[in-house]
Amino acid sequence: MPDHTLHTATHDIASADLADGSAAAATAHEHDVAAALTSHGHAAAQTAADPTTMPPEQFWNARYGESDQIWSGQPNPVLVREAARLTPTTALDLGCGEGADAIWLAGQGWQVTAVDISTTALDRGRAQADAVGVADRIDWQQHDLSETFASGSFGLVSAQFLQSPVALDRERILQNAVAAVAPNGCLVVVGHAEFPAALAEAHPEVELPSAAEVLASLRLPEGEWITEIVAEESREASGVHAGMGTLVDSVVVVRRRA
Ligand SMILES: C[S@@+](CC[C@H](N)C(=O)[O-])C[C@H]1O[C@@H](n2cnc3c(N)ncnc32)[C@H](O)[C@@H]1O
Repeated sequence: MPDHTLHTATHDIASADLADGSAAAATAHEHDVAAALTSHGHAAAQTAADPTTMPPEQFWNARYGESDQIWSGQPNPVLVREAARLTPTTALDLGCGEGADAIWLAGQGWQVTAVDISTTALDRGRAQADAVGVADRIDWQQHDLSETFASGSFGLVSAQFLQSPVALDRERILQNAVAAVAPNGCLVVVGHAEFPAALAEAHPEVELPSAAEVLASLRLPEGEWITEIVAEESREASGVHAGMGTLVDSVVVVRRRA
C-alpha cells in the first residue's frame, strides 16, 4: 500500500554531524523544508489541484525545475560515515536526487547505480559526475521506485531522505532494497523522525517514522541480518533553518550475513 505518510525533506547538517568536521561541509546537503513546501504551493498553483495527488514524476520534475540546484552538492554525513567502514564494491543509491551521494561514493571507488524518479535531477547528477571525472563509475537510472527497481545486488544500498509529499510506496521500496543487498552488504536508511516544533505544527498531517518503525518495516528474515544501528540522531537546524530548533533523523543500518 502506498505510503503517503512521509513528506517534505529537511536535512540541515550541523558541523558536529560531519564525518570530516570540515567547515565547508558544515552546510552540507541542505534539504530545504521551506523550499519543498513552497514547491508544494507552486505545484498547487500550476495544477489548481491538491498537489499531493500529482503524479510523482511530474511533482519532482517541477520541484527540481524551480532552480538550477536544490541540494548542496555535498554527501549526506551518515552515508559518508557508514560507507567509510566498508570496502568499496557496488552501491545502489535510492532517490539519489542531484547525485551528491552517488558522486561521492564513486570518488571513493564504488561502482554506483543511482536511481531517481526525476529526469531533471538525474541529468544534473550525470553532468556533475562528468565534470568531476567519475562518469564511468555511475549508472544513472530513472525509476518510479514504487513501480520498478534496479536489478542486481549491491554491497551497499542507501536510501537517504527518500521521502515525498506525493505518492511513494516507501515500505515496498525498502523491502526491495533489503532484497538487493549482497551477502555481507549493508543497507543504510536515513530519514526524518522529527521536525522542529514550528514545522511540525505547520504540518500535523506529516507522520515521520522512528528508526524502530523503519526497521520493523524492512521485515528482515530472522537470522539473516545483523542490526548495526537503529537510532534517532539529533542535530540543530542550520542554514536556512538556523534557529528553528532540533531536527531528529532516524538512522537504520543493517548488514546481511555473509
Ligand atoms: C528529499 S529528496 C532526497 C534526495 C537525496 N537522497 C538527498 O539526500 O539529497 C527525495 C528524492 O526522492 C526522489 N523520489 C521521490 N519519489 C520517488 C519515487 N517514487 N521513485 C524514485 N525516486 C523518488 C525525488 O525525486 C528526490 O530526488
